[in-house]
Amino acid sequence: MPFTIAVAGKGGTGKSTLSALLVQAVVERGQGPVLAVDADPNANLGELLGLQAETSIGELREDTLSRVADLPPGASKERYLEQGLHECLVEGEAVDLLVMGRGEGPKCYCMVNHILRKYIEVLRGSYAYVVLDNEAGLEHLSRRTTQDVDVLLVVAQPNPVALRAASRIVGLARELALRVDREYLVLNGVSGDEPSSIADEMSRMGITLGARVPHDEEIAQLALEGRPLSQLSMRAPARTAAGELLERMLNERKQGG
Ligand SMILES: Nc1ncnc2c1ncn2[C@@H]1O[C@H](COP(=O)(O)OP(=O)(O)OP(=O)(O)O)[C@@H](O)[C@H]1O
Ligand SMILES: [Mg+2]
Repeated sequence: MPFTIAVAGKGGTGKSTLSALLVQAVVERGQGPVLAVDADPNANLGELLGLQAETSIGELREDTLSRVADLPPGASKERYLEQGLHECLVEGEAVDLLVMGRGEGPKCYCMVNHILRKYIEVLRGSYAYVVLDNEAGLEHLSRRTTQDVDVLLVVAQPNPVALRAASRIVGLARELALRVDREYLVLNGVSGDEPSSIADEMSRMGITLGARVPHDEEIAQLALEGRPLSQLSMRAPARTAAGELLERMLNERKQGG
């Protein structure tokens, strides 16, 4: 199965940016193909990757339910969903994008989710990596739309309030008893050394610091201009940090320690 990285964190901490940088790091190392999953209802991972999704799993789910009565009985619902899933997939060169889209309404989604889970699992099997950009509530992880995760990255700005929010997300992941092999904290938007209060907070959280991603003016500028992160220069410090984080995750997985 692919190496699956889930990125979580409070709103605006840099989850989508980190997800896109990691996708890029995998591709640069020739280790693709990667499946990038945008699991945030307010999806923008595609923009950062320069890929545009026409539709989402959320829309497919609603569409299937509204047509269920018209579909012939038996396997056709399955086929409809399987085909719909492939229509949701945006194919790039070494990266494909799947947008989960809006959350569930008041209907009963069990049957649809059950089938979708099965086909998402099959789809996952064709990739070397899956990078999952989550929303803060970890909704998709909690509903097991996505299954096992090798690494959970919790992104936070380097200040005590943000770290406490990150801590709650780590707690939530543990409460949900997600099958996560490793967790790392990623400090994003770092400039200079952190005060010791940050180190104290991190040790209270009991989570390993995976990376410090510097504040990068070039990223801020690309975001302002709505340009994809592929246009970030090769030596951009945040790009280097994401590459090092990827290597660390892989090394620590191999060591199994
Ligand atoms: N290291 C960085 N240096 C400079 N700007 C950054 C950095 N990381 C993120 N940003 C900027 O911060 C803003 C929020 O980043 P991003 O969209 O990645 O966060 P998010 O956690 O995905 O947000 P949301 O919760 O809204 O999905 C963006 O404008 C992004 O360009
Ligand atoms: Mg985001």
